[in-house]
Amino acid sequence: MIELGINIDHVATVRQARRTFEPDPVVAAALAEQGGADGITFHLREDRRHIQERDVELLMRTVTVKTNMEFGCAEEIVGIACKAKPTWGLLVPENREEVTTEGGLDVVSDDGRIALAVQKLKDHDILVSLFIDPDLKQVEAAGRIGADAVELHTGPYALATRQTLTTELARLSEAGEATSALGMRLHAGHGLNYNNVRPVAAIPNMIELNIGHSVVSRAVMVGMRDAVAEMRRILDVCQP
Ligand code: PXP
Repeated sequence: MIELGINIDHVATVRQARRTFEPDPVVAAALAEQGGADGITFHLREDRRHIQERDVELLMRTVTVKTNMEFGCAEEIVGIACKAKPTWGLLVPENREEVTTEGGLDVVSDDGRIALAVQKLKDHDILVSLFIDPDLKQVEAAGRIGADAVELHTGPYALATRQTLTTELARLSEAGEATSALGMRLHAGHGLNYNNVRPVAAIPNMIELNIGHSVVSRAVMVGMRDAVAEMRRILDVCQP
């Protein structure tokens, strides 16, 4: 059964819009678990635009499924992650001007920062996942520096037109095959929603999908538990 990681960042985005106490991403995480989430993902950004350190601390104390902490390679944040000890550390490129994570990590031309962050996390018994574009060279580089998983960037697939959809899906499948052949877990995420998730969930060897914006958007209408349960039902049909 495919694992569903729910990214709760945008619950915190709404809270931070007023710098107040609600809605609480920690409560959202508990409701996501009740809806069938297998993991809770949260991104501690350097600019702290949504998730705060208080959230990380409380999530680590209350989440009973896997925790997947996402962050860039900045020393300060890697240090916070090493103290928090999530199940997974998900390394992403981070750029202050971006609205959301825009592309995958360039592991091939790493200046040493990614490899150093991977090593530090491993030294703290944290499993490491690298967010990369579906590119065979990036997959091989991820394997070389010891990643436990790669999360393939599904953003371009999500934005594909009718003309480019088949190509984007083929890129994901090929990168997925290479990932499994190298002994890494295959994860994917970004831009997935209730309409476009099925073909990605059906990619051979896909183990985990991380989904945030679409589920949080639906949760505003129907509640977190039901929004997650609905996504769970879709995935169960794709990969029983
Ligand atoms: N995976 C990564 C690495 C991300 O940065 C994000 C967005 O925070 C997601 C998955 C989830 O993307 P979305 O919010 O578009 O579902």
